[in-house]
Amino acid sequence: MTENSFIPNKYKNSVDKGQYCWSSPSNIALVKYWGKRPGQIPENPSISFTLDACKTTTSLSFELKEQPNDTFNFDVIFEGKKHDEFKPKITTFFERIEPYMPFLKTYHLIIETSNSFPHSSGIASSASGMSALALCLMSLEKDLNPEISDDFFIKKASFLARLGSGSASRSVEGDLVVWGKHEAIEGSSDLFGIKYPFEVHENFKNYHDTILLVDKGEKQVSSSVGHNLMHGHPFAERRFEQGRDNLSKLLEIFKSGDIKAFIEIVESEALTLHAMMLTSKPYFILMKPNTLEIIQKIWQFRQQTGLQISFTLDAGANVHVLYPEAEASKIYEFIKTELVAYCQNGHYICDRIGFGAKQLPI
Ligand code: PMV
Repeated sequence: MTENSFIPNKYKNSVDKGQYCWSSPSNIALVKYWGKRPGQIPENPSISFTLDACKTTTSLSFELKEQPNDTFNFDVIFEGKKHDEFKPKITTFFERIEPYMPFLKTYHLIIETSNSFPHSSGIASSASGMSALALCLMSLEKDLNPEISDDFFIKKASFLARLGSGSASRSVEGDLVVWGKHEAIEGSSDLFGIKYPFEVHENFKNYHDTILLVDKGEKQVSSSVGHNLMHGHPFAERRFEQGRDNLSKLLEIFKSGDIKAFIEIVESEALTLHAMMLTSKPYFILMKPNTLEIIQKIWQFRQQTGLQISFTLDAGANVHVLYPEAEASKIYEFIKTELVAYCQNGHYICDRIGFGAKQLPI
């Protein structure tokens, strides 16, 4: 499929007004996306666990404008209150997707959105938020053209979400999603995420992710600035190659169920992401002292007990503690007694692998 596959023909139906609601999960990358080409095209393929508890719920109400004009007219309501701060980001999103959603300027839209996790938790809501909004827009497109297939609906939702935030392309489906072309994964694409198409060993089913909220403040360096710093980065090409190789290795690991090998790749990916930040120009550090304290404690506990606890990091200071279902109770006990002390105000979120976005009744 190409970008042109997502440009609609003339719509069959007309719809005056209505409302849809979707909830979309967050996701945590195992092989990281860090570095992109114009048009939100990733430099290397990535793969993520879709989460379950961390999600955004968005409803979209729409009504045809009486007087058509050439602007995007919309209001944003965030957690019950009008929130104009989100408008510039959504306007940019609408500008990018307009060629694929030519009806956008014919409606007045009301976007009401809320997150299951606290706003100031350091958890990015762009993946779940852009995915939920893209799905609402796809519901509208489906009413305009009921012939759209389920497969196209999902692919185009991910394609649109990607244009809002790259990692949002991985927040439509579950439980493992690949985004970015990889020669060994048939159907993989730089344009949208796909559900991981191969066998996954029982060991990776119901995997847990306890998110330790080390720093709930706004990041000093945004993801988009970070991605841009990969242009001309001295290690960029080697890093992109490494991302592709790590994904190749994970294919075998998901099949065999080798958690030890999984941990080596996932932790290395997390540290490499931050190593790219440390070696950018200008350089920056998003980890905090407690991020490192937690990592040390995890390594110590793993060595002492042989339990298969591991970590990954996002573009921030919070630590995602990953562990298999079979060892969940012992590891969770350790998290509560040893790691929660390093969290800001003792806050953490218990999450696990989830199965993707859901449409909700109005
Ligand atoms: O989707 P963005 O542009 O916010 O980039 C996300 C990048 C990471 O979260 C650091 C890695 C990833 O693959 O999700």
